[in-house]
Amino acid sequence: MTKPPERDALLSAPTPADQPATTPTLEAQPSEVTPQAKPVKAKKVKAPAKAAKPRRTTAELPLTEALPEPEEATGDLSPDPLTAEAQPQKPKAKPKKAKAKAAPQPTQEAEETGSGRPTPQPVLSEAEQQTFDIRMERYRSDLEGSLRRVYGDQVDAIWPRLEALLKRSFGERPTELRRLDEARLLRPDWLQAPEMIGYVAYTDRFAGTLKGVSEHLSYLEELGIKYLHLMPLLKPRAGENDGGYAVQDYKAVREDLGSMADLRSLAGELRARGISLELDLVINHVAEEHDWAVKAKAGYGNYRDYFLMFPNREQPDLYERTLPEVFPDFAPGNFTWNAAARSWVWTTFNSYQWDLNWANPNIFLEFVDIILHLANQGVEIFRLDAIAFIWKRMWTDSQNQPEVHDLTRALRAAARIVAPAVAFKAEAIVAPGDLIAYLGQRDHHGKVSDMAYHNSLMVQLWSSLASRSTRLFEQALLAFPPKPTNTTWGMYVRCHDDIGWAISDHDAGMAGTVGWGHRAFLSDFYSGAAPGSFARGQVFQANPRTGDRRISGSAASLAGLEAAETGAEVESALRRLRLLHAVTIGYGGVPLLYMGDELALTNDYSYASAPEHALDNRWMHRPQMDWDKAEERRDPQTSAGKMYAALRSLIQARQHLPHLHASIESRVMRSPNEHTLLLRRTHPQGNMLAVYNFTNEFQALPAWVLREVVGAYPRDAISGHEWNLTNEEVALEPYGAYWLIEQAH
Ligand code: GLC
Repeated sequence: MTKPPERDALLSAPTPADQPATTPTLEAQPSEVTPQAKPVKAKKVKAPAKAAKPRRTTAELPLTEALPEPEEATGDLSPDPLTAEAQPQKPKAKPKKAKAKAAPQPTQEAEETGSGRPTPQPVLSEAEQQTFDIRMERYRSDLEGSLRRVYGDQVDAIWPRLEALLKRSFGERPTELRRLDEARLLRPDWLQAPEMIGYVAYTDRFAGTLKGVSEHLSYLEELGIKYLHLMPLLKPRAGENDGGYAVQDYKAVREDLGSMADLRSLAGELRARGISLELDLVINHVAEEHDWAVKAKAGYGNYRDYFLMFPNREQPDLYERTLPEVFPDFAPGNFTWNAAARSWVWTTFNSYQWDLNWANPNIFLEFVDIILHLANQGVEIFRLDAIAFIWKRMWTDSQNQPEVHDLTRALRAAARIVAPAVAFKAEAIVAPGDLIAYLGQRDHHGKVSDMAYHNSLMVQLWSSLASRSTRLFEQALLAFPPKPTNTTWGMYVRCHDDIGWAISDHDAGMAGTVGWGHRAFLSDFYSGAAPGSFARGQVFQANPRTGDRRISGSAASLAGLEAAETGAEVESALRRLRLLHAVTIGYGGVPLLYMGDELALTNDYSYASAPEHALDNRWMHRPQMDWDKAEERRDPQTSAGKMYAALRSLIQARQHLPHLHASIESRVMRSPNEHTLLLRRTHPQGNMLAVYNFTNEFQALPAWVLREVVGAYPRDAISGHEWNLTNEEVALEPYGAYWLIEQAH
């Protein structure tokens, strides 16, 4: 039975009993078959490096131990009438499709092993071997140390397979990407540079297909984009799939978008233009149609161990006592009964998204393989989806557990050894107090993700816009410990998800308000229910148990553009949007522009007539790209043109401002005016003070407050104007945004 993933239990857990103890016999395979084109049958094999191995393609080196005979379900589960009756069927051995290889490298036959079947190993030149060894030496303690903390002595069993996997992936890394590795090693702060601007889009909604994306690269370049996050595009399950976050095959591209070859070639084109490709790595769960889940359902014991499966409600009920519900509306609870598996399966998100059991070291190996495979196709940044959830622990909310950070550190070390050009971005939408750990705290300092979403700042932007007060904003930022200097924040105004009001009761109290009351106010305000609200959002996942109501809606609709009836209202909505973008672009992290926001696209209500989307109103802020509107971007009379021009000028200002390098923190200064936000950056080239007005009226600030930081005659990097701070007061325009730079005299 899958054990409750308590760490102590885990450390003492034996390797799954169903792993074969002996070298398997192999069916004769035609020796002339090339590594690319060989159907591989599910066979029993033994994996450790020096042991007998079957002849496999380099792309199909077994990561897990053998696929065993399906065992009687009772062998794996505690006695339960349901499971006792289970009669799993042996799946038919199915020929696997040959995987396209990035750059075939010469291989040599490794030493003959007991079975006489050698394992193809990459031939590394002396220089390559040296590079591999140096990197291994550099990262071994991160890799092994973290793994030992999580898996204890089981590391000895997986280490040879891990090393072989790293070496193979290193050998397969295409020359062009190795060049990128070298460049990145010389510029490890590439993600922290002020030039970095991200763009986030659905491939189909932006351009139809991957090939279509290639046709719009100049659009991205014109905007100043340096990295492109294409939303989930790996093969998802058919039908409902949570916007692609239910992956069926991590090594195939969603068919209607193109092929792996298309992805490789798009990555190459992007790279040639200095744009890095980011993909989602859905790491907490797979689709229940994924091969692992299919095998688990069929009763293969070691695949059952890939998931968290329980014969009855006993353990799930205990876990449920402390687990939150992510989708209380359409997927209540955290466990789903699966008749084929005769088990309750852990499903944090939708019932068809099966949580993986990271307490099983084979999952770690599988993901190292997936990451390196995709990195070798040209993916440069991985968005670690729902990373907070991957480790479960009884009596907790099973989020942010220490093992999450150990595992991230080990994955990062593996990636650094093979593909140092690669970076990780943590998607941890968690309380502010838990967030910083994703960039590394204490021993993990700077050794986990390179970037993490600054969810808290995004929430505070919308909160201050509605309340017209920045007191809570200041409080939330003051509570943040400093981040490691080699990391950066992912800054965003909107993304494809809803907005959850991640505001702690403590911060709210310190800011003179009440947590639940303020959260309720924000939901009322942004759903348009509150009198005087300019927003047109909708409530997502109302949870009557907790009172939580999250919000869906596009940035433009939430900021008032949809509701605007007069020219002045349109103007105000656009100024609000400009203000929010100015804060994110001028904060010193990587601004992540969400497709359509550059044109101020409003809500798209057509989702309601698409059966697979109708229940999920997050689709209202996942519109089709409006290329006609994009044509208006040069027309300053249109909303699209005004928004685009405002964003372009913010981006250009940022890209020329060394003060915005992410190694330096933005620090909040208490403002004497509660409607304004002051963020200070102390840079060797001079101080920077960002000044923002969160109201629709002029606001005054005593000039000396600014003068003390940036001197008497700073320059505003957005407008280019020099300011005179020798007067008593300065007036800030409605929703004004200023980046004041101290000037040398
Ligand atoms: C992340 C995604 C979200 C998805 C969830 C489950 O939070 O951003 O869209 O529903 O993970 O994969």
